[in-house]
Amino acid sequence: MLSFGIMTLNKRSEKSYYLEMAKRAYKYGIACYRFVPSDINPISEKINGDFYNPSIGRWENKEFSVPAILYDRCFYSEDSLSKQCMSIVNWLKARDDIRFLGYGLPNKLELYDILTHTNISPYLVKTMPFTNPQSFIDSLLAEQSLIIKPARGSQGQGIFHIKKAGEGILVKTDKKDAQVTHHFEKTEKAISWLNRLTAKRQYLIQPYVTLSDKDGHPFDIRILLQKDSKGTWNEIGRGIRTGKKDGIISNLSAGGKNIRFDDWITAFPSSLKNYLRDELDEIIETLPAALEEKLPPLFEMGIDIGIGDNGSLWILDINSKPGRKTILNTEPEKREELYTAPLLYAKYLEAGIDKERRPNHAKTVSN
Ligand SMILES: Nc1ncnc2c1ncn2[C@@H]1O[C@H](COP(=O)(O)OP(=O)(O)O)[C@@H](O)[C@H]1O
Ligand SMILES: [Mg+2]
Repeated sequence: MLSFGIMTLNKRSEKSYYLEMAKRAYKYGIACYRFVPSDINPISEKINGDFYNPSIGRWENKEFSVPAILYDRCFYSEDSLSKQCMSIVNWLKARDDIRFLGYGLPNKLELYDILTHTNISPYLVKTMPFTNPQSFIDSLLAEQSLIIKPARGSQGQGIFHIKKAGEGILVKTDKKDAQVTHHFEKTEKAISWLNRLTAKRQYLIQPYVTLSDKDGHPFDIRILLQKDSKGTWNEIGRGIRTGKKDGIISNLSAGGKNIRFDDWITAFPSSLKNYLRDELDEIIETLPAALEEKLPPLFEMGIDIGIGDNGSLWILDINSKPGRKTILNTEPEKREELYTAPLLYAKYLEAGIDKERRPNHAKTVSN
């Protein structure tokens, strides 16, 4: 039996995804485990976690060794458990006897630096590190508003739209239930706010690109790519996420809704339709290779693509731990594929026919 471990920071998260995967594992000769990285005893290296018992059809508490193949679904934030688990996961990544389905991606700033030297660069929004509030305010032009957001993304949280307003600065951010606006009448006030905001986390700066539909809803295209049982990248599905009217972000966590891609694209004249489809195909074909040329292997990625007023396409975000909601909501027929793909890819890794190079641990982080 191949041992397969799902790592999470919180056993309540993605419960149905893990359970559906676990239910299918036995059929493929896979024993499925679930644990929090901090459940590993540092001395014995035994884990006190959950084992999916196929004879009773549920998880049960068990002590086990570190599984041979790990599926990392830890979504880190700034708390101490995240920090602790991040270093344990890095230690696991460095071990030769364990394989990860995917080795993660660096933060948005490092990713930008890497991709800006590849043929995907025309699709990137210019991105700079946030260094200090004064130079940020100085770079703010009356006609171009800016976005600042955490270098390590977290489902649309902490994204601020900032523009000049008279002598002062206007800041907007989307919260779960509503948009919050704050007008700083003096730039000094905005500077102290920026100082406080950026003290604990690294932020980045981008121009604000209008990525809204004609009714003022921000939207993007979400594409899920995964490797199949032969280690080849495939598109699993694509869907549209639209945010609230006059909102900034389209994330589902901020009240976004899903639309089927095929329903959305019918509204366009056929020349534009073909153009969009061709451009998306180009991104899908180029991006995985561009990333894996520079970084360790991945199993899956979620790509968020925005569309500007003039039909220009922008890669907004690449997630190495993508959610499945958009696909499940818009293409429920993909369910079975979504639940078996990690297992099939684990079998592929086990068979040792994986020709991918050894991971470069220094570059792998949290995303
Ligand atoms: N530069 C930008 N211009 C306009 N909208 C943006 C920009 N950056 C992000 N957004 C909006 O915010 C959303 C979340 O941004 P993203 O970088 O994906 O952060 P996260 O990692 O938190 O999901 C995007 O899907 C998009 O709707
Ligand atoms: Mg995103």
